[in-house]
Amino acid sequence: LRWEDPISVADRYFHLFPTEKNPIWGNPCMDERHRSILPPTLNCSNLTLPNLLVVGPQKTGTTALSSFLQLHPDVSTNRILENTFEEIQFFSGENYEKGFDWYRQLFNNGSSKIVMDKSATYWDSTEGPMRAFALIPFAKIVVILHDPILRAYSWYNHLVARNESIVRGLSMEDVLNGDTPAAKKIRSRCISGGRYAHHLDRWLQWFPPSQFHLIDGSELKENPSEVVTNLARWLQLSPFDFQSLIKFNPKKGFYCKIVSGHSSCLGASKGRSYPPISPILSSRLCSIFHNDNIALHKMLLNHNFPVPTWLSSSLNQC
Ligand code: A3P
Repeated sequence: LRWEDPISVADRYFHLFPTEKNPIWGNPCMDERHRSILPPTLNCSNLTLPNLLVVGPQKTGTTALSSFLQLHPDVSTNRILENTFEEIQFFSGENYEKGFDWYRQLFNNGSSKIVMDKSATYWDSTEGPMRAFALIPFAKIVVILHDPILRAYSWYNHLVARNESIVRGLSMEDVLNGDTPAAKKIRSRCISGGRYAHHLDRWLQWFPPSQFHLIDGSELKENPSEVVTNLARWLQLSPFDFQSLIKFNPKKGFYCKIVSGHSSCLGASKGRSYPPISPILSSRLCSIFHNDNIALHKMLLNHNFPVPTWLSSSLNQC
């Protein structure tokens, strides 16, 4: 045995185990050894971390769901960060490197029963489920399963509406059939998150099925007050009259909140109007998602999860 300074020991260690260089944040308050050496700025007795993750996928109505759920007085979410969209995307991206302290400070704003982090990028992040479980293993997980055909089409239209250079001159058919780097990139964006069985399986490797609540994306669109009422019941929130505060807005073509007596809809980027999907495109996407949908159907039945109506009908269609 010989003495060596800590930095060179660490260098040597990480040379041997390079994958361990990536931090995995746990909750220091759950470990007595950590609790005894915490800085005074971290008071475990009033530590607030989310106990509800709305993990996505993107383009399925996650923003509508989280905004409707927040009508309940006992639901809160993170503070809004400057220079970001509404999501903090901690478990799925660069923000994870900012660490535990950065994340927990976004939630120290009250004593709601349900504290929600809605970040739709968690769904298809490889590390997302493992990281979330390491920090908040008892969190409830909400997933919206919207027809992946419509979700893919929504992604395409999102890029078109933003006039992104990558999509200029490409029809959705070009995106599905093309061999150019642009077509491949957009294709992956539109398709990969919609392979639901693959991603759900990864989440289920970490969190037990009893912690999941799955929502049918079409039901959310058509009857949001019932969907959010069921979710609130599952979260054991006190009864709340969502129906009187969520009303259909004919101009928007979607349900919107009622705030101070007026209809308050999501912004222009949520619930866009674009031409309906053509039957040819729909059937092409149907065959792309067919095997994944079969696997999803099996997985839902195995775990006693509800099967969305779009899924039952899509299995017989292509
Ligand atoms: P489109 O804009 O393509 O119609 P997310 O918030 O997860 O990114 O999802 C956006 C999608 O939510 C929208 O896609 C829209 O179809 C769907 N959505 C469901 N209910 C909505 C609502 N009440 N208001 C706006 N968009 C809603």
